[in-house]
Amino acid sequence: MKNDIGELIKVRRATPPKFLAKTEVSKELIKELLENANWAPTHKNTEPWRFKIFRGEAKHKLAADIYDLLINGSVNAPVNLQKAEKFTSGLKRVPVAIAIVLQRDEAERIPEWEEVAAVSMAVQNMWLTATANGLGAFWSTPDFMPLLNDLIHLKAGQKLLGFFYVGEIAIDYPSTGRGNVEEKTEWFD
Ligand SMILES: Cc1cc2nc3c(=O)[nH]c(=O)nc-3n(C[C@H](O)[C@H](O)[C@H](O)COP(=O)(O)O)c2cc1C
Repeated sequence: MKNDIGELIKVRRATPPKFLAKTEVSKELIKELLENANWAPTHKNTEPWRFKIFRGEAKHKLAADIYDLLINGSVNAPVNLQKAEKFTSGLKRVPVAIAIVLQRDEAERIPEWEEVAAVSMAVQNMWLTATANGLGAFWSTPDFMPLLNDLIHLKAGQKLLGFFYVGEIAIDYPSTGRGNVEEKTEWFD
């Protein structure tokens, strides 16, 4: 457990599915991730994050259904077969996949980008919680997401923003590092 916030932020890694172990992640831990996600900042308290947890048989069925839709289905868009295969084999491999869903507030009181920002902060809360528990995580955003609305059972006003994977780290993935923050900063004193 890392207590220092700066250290926790810097050791957080995007761990791709092939580097995650297949070992189960407990429901208790998943609930801790979701609880912390739920405390993200939210303009006008719309709390726009929704989560759909796929595990076990349901996750395998989802992967098979997505593969079937993209490869055999009559989707009205060009699909990159290699990407579809990579995505579905990753989905089958990981112990848990959390569909990240944005829920627009009915009156659309604030712009969508602010809701995307709030959901992203919820994801970062989950990601840091996973890191603090020694787990790896990954946010996958395949470009065919808009084709999955029915398979994910999205309701009115909802949009899929990707899948968040969590699992034990099988192979450590080195940091890509970051450029110097000073080059991205202007000070006005
Ligand atoms: C909104 C968002 C979507 C992402 N989607 C993908 C993705 O679809 N595939 C992928 O390989 N990485 C994805 N990533 C993770 C980045 O690749 C990763 O954060 C980057 O390589 C830096 O690595 P690090 O997080 O370990 O420092 C996504 C990150 C964000 C913030």
